[in-house]
Amino acid sequence: MLKIVPTDGALGADIEGVDLKKVDDATFAKIEDAWHDNLVLRFRGQDLDDDSLADFSRRFGVLDMAPTGRGGTPFDPGRPEITVLSNIVVDGEAVGALGNSELVWHQDMTYNELPPKASLLYAMEVPESGGDTSFYNMYKAYETLPEDLRARVKGLSCKHDATRTSSGELRHGYEESYTHEARPGAVHPFVIRHPASGRLALFLGRRPNAYVPGMPEEEGDALLDELWAHINDGPHAWTQNWRVGDLVIWDNRCALHRRNGLDPKSRRLMHRTQVRDEARPVAAWAS
Ligand code: OGA
Ligand code: MN
Repeated sequence: MLKIVPTDGALGADIEGVDLKKVDDATFAKIEDAWHDNLVLRFRGQDLDDDSLADFSRRFGVLDMAPTGRGGTPFDPGRPEITVLSNIVVDGEAVGALGNSELVWHQDMTYNELPPKASLLYAMEVPESGGDTSFYNMYKAYETLPEDLRARVKGLSCKHDATRTSSGELRHGYEESYTHEARPGAVHPFVIRHPASGRLALFLGRRPNAYVPGMPEEEGDALLDELWAHINDGPHAWTQNWRVGDLVIWDNRCALHRRNGLDPKSRRLMHRTQVRDEARPVAAWAS
């Protein structure tokens, strides 16, 4: 019997009583509804390999390829849809991305024209402390946005930077510096209408290298700083403390996430998939 147990935070729920290797259509429908209601779902005590992780992820849609790792190739060329996140180094080479760094608040791959609707992150090895992942509810961020800021972002879009990771590292194939106009990325509305819930969400991607096209840089930076201060000072978060066997799925359209740092002496190994959306983010004000 599937049981939905919301967290005590502003988003997230545990789903109990489900083996993700055996999900029938009726159970999947309940999971998808719970995901839309809670934005982030956690399934504890799972036993997944890359095949079963990919199979469950594919219930949500078509998988996107992982952002490429070292030298522009996937971490495992045989499994280009699996993103490996790890601080483990073997023979001087990192086995995965993002290392020990603390990450900034972000949404995954919003520098693409069609960002993923979901990311699914599975814990294979976790440190005793550190490496926790927090999530932020962007419906609530929008609903609590002061009236003047709501009016100022209406009709505006933001350019999301493709060149750096959420730890600030330069991705393979990009230059050290760009003008805002020339920097590779994608432009998305500041406020989107979620295609399943119909609710409005603030859609910010990440702060570093963000740019408001058509606005003088200083004015755009001031607007971005105010929007991000609303997040950084806000209460609408929940933090996941990982256990081995946890599978967490988040709605990348209406939730931010970030990870705190971790002790380089500890080991952390996570495998992730990302599910392509059916359509580009749609502006709240689009008719
Ligand atoms: C991610 C990510 C956070 C973490 O998987 O997209 O940002 O906890 N990872 O490793
Ligand atoms: Mn991420």
